[in-house]
Order: sequence, then C-alpha cells, then structure tokens
Amino acid sequence: MKVSSIAKILASDLILQEVTIKGWIRTFRSNRFIALNDGSTIKNIQCVVDFENTDESLLKRMTTGAAVSIKGTLVESLGKGQSVEVQVTDIKILGDSNPDEYPIQPKKHSMEFLRENAHLRVRTNTFSAVMRMRSALSFAVHQYFRDHGFYHVHTPIITGSDAEGAGEMFRVSTLAPKEPLLKEDGTIDFTQDFFGKETNLTVSGQLEAEAYAMALGKVYTFGPTFRAENSNTTRHLAEFWMIEPEVAFCELDGNMDLAEDFIKSVLTYVLEHCKNDLEFLDQRYAKEESQKPQAQRSSMGLLEKLHFVVDHTFKRVSYTEAIDILKNSKPNKKKKFQFPISEWGADLQSEHERYLVEKYFKCPVILFDYPASIKAFYMRLNDDGKTVRAMDVLFPGIGEIAGGSQREERLEVLKEKIKAIGLDEKELWWYLDLRKFGTAVHSGFGLGFERLVQFATGMANIRDTIPFPRTPQNAEF
Ligand code: 4AD
Ligand code: MG
Repeated sequence: MKVSSIAKILASDLILQEVTIKGWIRTFRSNRFIALNDGSTIKNIQCVVDFENTDESLLKRMTTGAAVSIKGTLVESLGKGQSVEVQVTDIKILGDSNPDEYPIQPKKHSMEFLRENAHLRVRTNTFSAVMRMRSALSFAVHQYFRDHGFYHVHTPIITGSDAEGAGEMFRVSTLAPKEPLLKEDGTIDFTQDFFGKETNLTVSGQLEAEAYAMALGKVYTFGPTFRAENSNTTRHLAEFWMIEPEVAFCELDGNMDLAEDFIKSVLTYVLEHCKNDLEFLDQRYAKEESQKPQAQRSSMGLLEKLHFVVDHTFKRVSYTEAIDILKNSKPNKKKKFQFPISEWGADLQSEHERYLVEKYFKCPVILFDYPASIKAFYMRLNDDGKTVRAMDVLFPGIGEIAGGSQREERLEVLKEKIKAIGLDEKELWWYLDLRKFGTAVHSGFGLGFERLVQFATGMANIRDTIPFPRTPQNAEF
C-alpha cells in the first residue's frame, strides 16, 4: 500500500479503501481520536483508534508531536468537523515525543515563545500555513517572470561593491579577527585577505543584474540579501530575500506597470492556489485584529485586503505632490508625526507612507520622482536637476514593499553622481563600462520577499515570515 498525503486523500474519493499515512500527532483525545497532520495541508485527518484492542503502552506513546505511520480504512465520518476519517487497523510509532518536554502543546503560544522555538514552530497551524504560502509565492514569482520573457540570473552573494552606497554591510573575511594585518597607516591590509580586497555580503543584486539586462534584455534575480542596519522593527531583517527585475529599453512608466502587474499576479496566484491556508490565516487575522483597540484595527479582513489590491489600480503620485498632501495633513498640523514634514526634500518615514496609503488614498500608492539627495547614485536625474526617476511602491500595513528606478544611462552624468557621493569611479569601472558600450535606457526595482509574504499572510511581524529570522542580537539556529 502506497503512502498517501493527507491533502491527496482529502481531495480524492477513496472511501472504503485502505490508506497508509505518515505524519505527526497534533492531539490525541479520549484514548481514541488522533488528529494527524503531515504538512501537506493545514487540515488534519482524524484517525480513530480501536483502543480496546490496542496495547496500553502503545496508547501512552500517542502523544502530541510523535511521528507515526497509520494504516486504516477511509470511511465517512459521523463526527462534527470532518467529512472523512481513518478507522485505524495498524499504527506504528516512528518517533516518540515526550509530552513533558515537547514545547509545542495544543494551546496558544506567544509569538515570542515560538520564535525561540523556530525549529519547531512550523508544526503549528499558523506557521505551516505561512510557510506553505511563502513557497507558493516563490513559485508564483518564477512563473510570472518566465511567462513574461525574463531570464533568471544568479547574482553573487559575496561582492566587492556597495550597491546602495549605504555602507550597512556585513564584511566577508578570512583574516584572523584578533590580529588583522595592518598597513603602515594603521588600516587593515585587505590585500592579504582571501579575495585580495575588501568584500561584503551583498545588499542588492541590482548592479550585476543591470549588466545582464544589457545583454539578455529582461532579467531578474531572486536571492538572499544582507543589511547590517540596526533596525529592530516589524519590517526589517538582517537577512532577507529580494526579487529584482531589470529591463533594458524600459522607462520609469514601464517599470511602474511591471511592478503593479507583477504584484497583482503573484497575489492572484495565492488567492487561487492557497485557499485553505488563506481561509485559516483570514480567521486568525480577524481574531488578532479584534484584540486591538478600535482605533488601531484594520478596516479590512485579510482576504478583503488581498482582493482590494488585486482589483484596484495603484495610485501614482509624485513625491512633490505627496509632500504637499503631508504638509497639509491633520497629523502633521497637530504634530502627531514623529518626524514632522516641513519642507520639500524631507525623507519619508514609514508613518508618512502609511498615512498616504491607509488614510489619504486608501489604496496602494506608487510615489515617484524623489529628490536626488535622498536616493541612490544610480537613479536617472530628471531635467529639473534636482529629482531622480525613482519609485517606491507603498502598501497598507507595510509601507514600502518595493523600490526602484530608471537607471542613469548617461556616462558623464553617472560619473558626476559617483564623484558627488565620494565614491571612487575606479571601483565601479565595470558598471561604468555598461554606459560606455551600447548604453541604453533601462529600469528595475527590488521587492522585499518577506514584506510580500507579510502582506499576503497578515503576519504582524516580518520575523514570522521567514523560517529562521536573522535580526540584531539573534542568529540562533
Ligand atoms: O529600497 P531598497 O533598498 O532597494 C534596493 O536595494 C534596490 N537596489 C532595488 C532595485 O532597484 N533593484 O530595497 C528594496 C526592497 C524594499 O522596498 C523592501 O521591500 C526590501 O527590499 N527591504 C527589506 N526587507 C526586509 N528587511 C530589510 N532590512 C529590508 N531592506 C529593504
Ligand atoms: Mg527603498
């Protein structure tokens, strides 16, 4: 008899047939009813044990968390809560789980407790649903780009360039930490290091993706990204995954069209393919929201939010327009913003982004044409000489979910910008080559995968959207 997954059994008509299932016991009650889960679906299958003919010592080992192999007949269930159940004929304990020690008991645990047990938390309904959604979203990302003529490029994880010019990087080195070789001026001699130069974990695959877009036309990277910023927020990780498409011969408008179509497409995919998990997460979200004070509650349920994004056109607003709206907004006038907006040129904080999305426009917003001074060097300078062709996609509850730009394709302008921020153009020689040989208009953006998972699952904290989160002071597992 072949082992079947619970998902397959529940989707098929195997009534009165013999099935074999392997999984983990969620609960065992009345010495009779096992709720079994094998990870293939959020749904458990009820397995009914003939306890009168079962060894007492075996019954004792049927504890929460134990791995079992169950053979039995699938029958229609008379009980509430399930349409079918398994009448067990044979049960084998594959791996015991001591109930006095197993941390994941069938009760509500705090998210903090579950983070401390990240190796086991995926055995809960919530985390198994989130991680199945994460997997489905990842698949949808690749499918979208494949369907739209993009090539997948694996950009390096160890790099010698600081793509964002932000300096928040993790160094990669094999120098002995206690006695790095010093040069005469007291600085570290990186020529003695593994790569013969200073190297870091990448903060973005964009620069290398640009090189590939200049030959393959439409490319994307989807890989791990690292930021050593000390932001202990619900939206930041030190290690996260970023999706970065890059398109030759594409201007900013085309880039906005791509971002909007892409996001809608992957969300549509999970709405269609993750119904059971979404139904569970929708109910969970409603419960979580109901425990918040009225004023902080979301006006929409999770499913409603997903449909809302898929069904509505994202509002496109220039930075200048947005500043006007924010300057004249109630929270700004009443000094409710932690960072008050007083003049053009101010960097937008998450509180401002969320005001625009949640209170003012009440839909996803794409802000564009930001001041050059607050954006990265590679963004294309507008004719006004002070704004760049940047865009940020802002989402309810999340703030910035994606950021990108049309790239500066003019060699001289780019050189000027590199000089202005104090970078050495020699370090970026290969990036400048792209502007020397067959330069062309091109654009792209980066979307934080965990922020997408966060939006799609309704999880309040980004740490609960990645299996083993890395954050300041935390790299267990
Ligand atoms: O806005 P960012 O910094 O843009 C770039 O890195 C560009 N090179 C992208 C490009 O044009 N190809 O980051 C892009 C996105 C953000 O919008 C956010 O969703 C996510 O990456 N992100 C983070 N997600 C989790 N934790 C962090 N610390 C993040 N920092 C950025
Ligand atoms: Mg950004």
